[in-house]
Amino acid sequence: MRKKIVAGNWKCNTTVQEGVELAKSVNELVAKSGVKNVVVVLGTPFTHLTSIVAVVDIKLVGVAAQNCAAEAKGAFTGEVSASMVKSTGAEYVILGHSERREYYGETSETLNKKVALALSNNLTPIYCCGEALAIREANEQNAYVKTQLEETVFNLSPEDFSKLAIAYEPIWAIGTGVTASTAQAQEMLAYIRGLISNKFGKAIAEETSILYGGSCNAKNAPELFAQADIDGGLIGGASLKAEDFLGIITAY
Ligand code: PGA
Repeated sequence: MRKKIVAGNWKCNTTVQEGVELAKSVNELVAKSGVKNVVVVLGTPFTHLTSIVAVVDIKLVGVAAQNCAAEAKGAFTGEVSASMVKSTGAEYVILGHSERREYYGETSETLNKKVALALSNNLTPIYCCGEALAIREANEQNAYVKTQLEETVFNLSPEDFSKLAIAYEPIWAIGTGVTASTAQAQEMLAYIRGLISNKFGKAIAEETSILYGGSCNAKNAPELFAQADIDGGLIGGASLKAEDFLGIITAY
């Protein structure tokens, strides 16, 4: 059975101290709730990783970086490598988020390097894809997402591909309060699973966790997560308050 994953993406929010408190609260609430069927992950800024790994029970709450460098090491001022992320005790890395693609010029070429480095450092990539509003309005979202996957993670070996999770996040739904409808989300995730099946076979497609992201909250999560192909969520705004985030974690 594929894993259900609820991953927070804190983006550029919280100081280290605030982040540690938030992580502690999430850990406590998850422990109390007794949730066992969901993999919980906190995607924190790089600066927070070591401190947060130290205060959570890593078996209950996993920790993710939100990016990693496209180079293994060397003269790349300001970059944080996959091996550095791994050395903090974090086990996941969010890659290809639309904000990274849009504001920091991440291309398929850069992302291929990042995914490869993440995998070679035994980090689990949560690989993001998703279309902008104009593409959705032109009804070209399927072709767009297909290309995003074909140019990147579909180049992996079946063995490597089966190590990652996919997050579909329509850009028009991120931070806007406009969630994709349950039908739109399910339709796209089923489509992505079909693409994976065509590329890597049915067994791998059935085992791949595919998440929905974009204004997901405790209110809409139960209906979204009840869909056959939605294996959890990548959560921005609603992951910044422990109670709200728990509401999503317990939505299954
Ligand atoms: P949101 O962000 O939940 O605030 O819409 C989701 C994301 O960008 O991962």
